[in-house]
Amino acid sequence: MNEHLSPLEWSNGVLRLLDQRRLPTEEIWHEYRSFAEVAGAIKDMVVRGAPAIGCTAAYGVALGAREGALFDEVCAALAATRPTAVNLFWAIERMKRVQPRTAEALEREAIQIQEEDIAACRAIGRQGASLLPPGVVLTHCNAGALATGGYGTALGVIRSAIAAGTRLEVFADETRPFLQGARLTAWELQKSNIPVTLITDNMAGHFMSRGAIQSVVVGADRIAANGDTANKIGTFSVAVLAREHHIPFYVAAPRSTIDRALPDGSCIPIEERAAEEVTHLDGRRIAPEVAVCNPAFDVTPARFITALITEAGVCRAPFGESIARLF
Ligand code: MRU
Repeated sequence: MNEHLSPLEWSNGVLRLLDQRRLPTEEIWHEYRSFAEVAGAIKDMVVRGAPAIGCTAAYGVALGAREGALFDEVCAALAATRPTAVNLFWAIERMKRVQPRTAEALEREAIQIQEEDIAACRAIGRQGASLLPPGVVLTHCNAGALATGGYGTALGVIRSAIAAGTRLEVFADETRPFLQGARLTAWELQKSNIPVTLITDNMAGHFMSRGAIQSVVVGADRIAANGDTANKIGTFSVAVLAREHHIPFYVAAPRSTIDRALPDGSCIPIEERAAEEVTHLDGRRIAPEVAVCNPAFDVTPARFITALITEAGVCRAPFGESIARLF
């Protein structure tokens, strides 16, 4: 299994990012030497996935310090890139706490954040491995190595379960409109020699009703104090289908994805993205010029979640209490 895939690399003051917009057909790495370029890369989704966005932003702060840019301006520019994944703000806040704010100290902190994220993903994998029954596990979007410092959250649980001997196959939702499932999860799992079958988002109910799916595991972009979970648009529908079919629905995420300041999911800001992501496929128009909605995330109420798998333990209902115990 290729467990060492990471979408970001730091060396000698240069950040390298794997361009996730070009996968799976091209594996292209770009080099970044300024915080403004890094902010652009997060906004344009060269890098995406909540923990990976957090790690990248931390390196962006380190680059800003090397450039001699104003610290507050650097942090504000990076924070203005994407609104939903709380790991972005968590990482920036952590960089703000570094004292003294020398370029070297900020660089060390960013490296530490990425290393801790990989360790957290591996721990999430260990915590969740025994929860997945043998058979087919469905996942939505990409919550793999590509979405983290490395290893992955939802895909980390799958990697760990397989390593522990559970016979698993993955069904990957294509994840309209940005196609993270088709382009990224299918690519990542194939590269890791994990059996994967790609389905479109509207097929999940069909396969569940036929007994073809035994569990669901997804990642998260922001989890409120009561367990309500924002994740890629379409996750809520999968959770409702899983409940209807008595299939366990797991959310795997590090504690840095939990926003204890928000009492419930209604407070989570939902990113609205460009209409072209819906009206165009590969640059080609597929719909007439009509009004379009494109929320990038939805909120799954905690009552649909069987358990939340974190690096510090597995939380079950009542989530308000079990989440509080994690900290
Ligand atoms: O818009 P994206 O690709 O950044 O959205 C990513 C997701 O929704 C992931 O499922 C989530 O960030 C968890 S990643 C470990």
